[in-house]
Amino acid sequence: MAQLIAGNWKMHGSRGFAAALATNIAAGAAGLACDLLLCPPFTALEATAAALRGSAIKLGAQDCHAAASGAHTGDIAAPMLADLGCTATILGHSERRAAHGETDAVVRAKALAAAASGLMAVVCVGESAAERDAGQAEAIVCAQLAASLPDGFAGVVAYEPIWAIGTGRTPTEADVAAMHAALRAALLARLGVAGRGVRILYGGSVNAGNAARLLAVAEVGGALVGGASLDAESFLAIARAAT
Ligand code: PGA
Repeated sequence: MAQLIAGNWKMHGSRGFAAALATNIAAGAAGLACDLLLCPPFTALEATAAALRGSAIKLGAQDCHAAASGAHTGDIAAPMLADLGCTATILGHSERRAAHGETDAVVRAKALAAAASGLMAVVCVGESAAERDAGQAEAIVCAQLAASLPDGFAGVVAYEPIWAIGTGRTPTEADVAAMHAALRAALLARLGVAGRGVRILYGGSVNAGNAARLLAVAEVGGALVGGASLDAESFLAIARAAT
């Protein structure tokens, strides 16, 4: 299965910025072996969709509500995202877990809503520095995975150590390999053979300089890229390191 390189633009960019970035990424994406997914803020989804028209690059959101509609001021439902041309959404990013109190149960409900609208969920899990220092990383992350995935999950998992996000620090290849092996085993135990088809992305300070070695680690099915996805050339350089 091709690796997936996903850009998480977080709360950055006007519609004009998004359209230009998507246009420049699309222009440089010909011949890439990997799959590409761009996740702009809600307000730039339509401009990004227009810029990506005719390209194979997929459009995703950064969150969705668990309900299909209703009295939820300020929230966005999965069918609305599908209506805009999204085929995916990030869910349970550590910034949402921390700043919006999203629990594993909330993430699981959102993953069900995403699937019901035909969106591929990119479910994020990851440990804090204190949890890793305490030797608890694999147990914490596998517990998060078990509680965040609905039965029959057919999306993507992103392993993002919280201490690596936006810090320039990354785990060693051995630590990534160990965590991804643990996640693969958990997916197989939970989903049976279908667990083999769930790509496990690594995320946290991926950049053009470290992408090749991180993407070469066993069971790394791609990357979820934050800061380096806001520049077309650095995002494309990561994509060129993918297989
Ligand atoms: P970063 O963010 O690449 O800027 O570390 C990754 C993420 O939060 O998805």
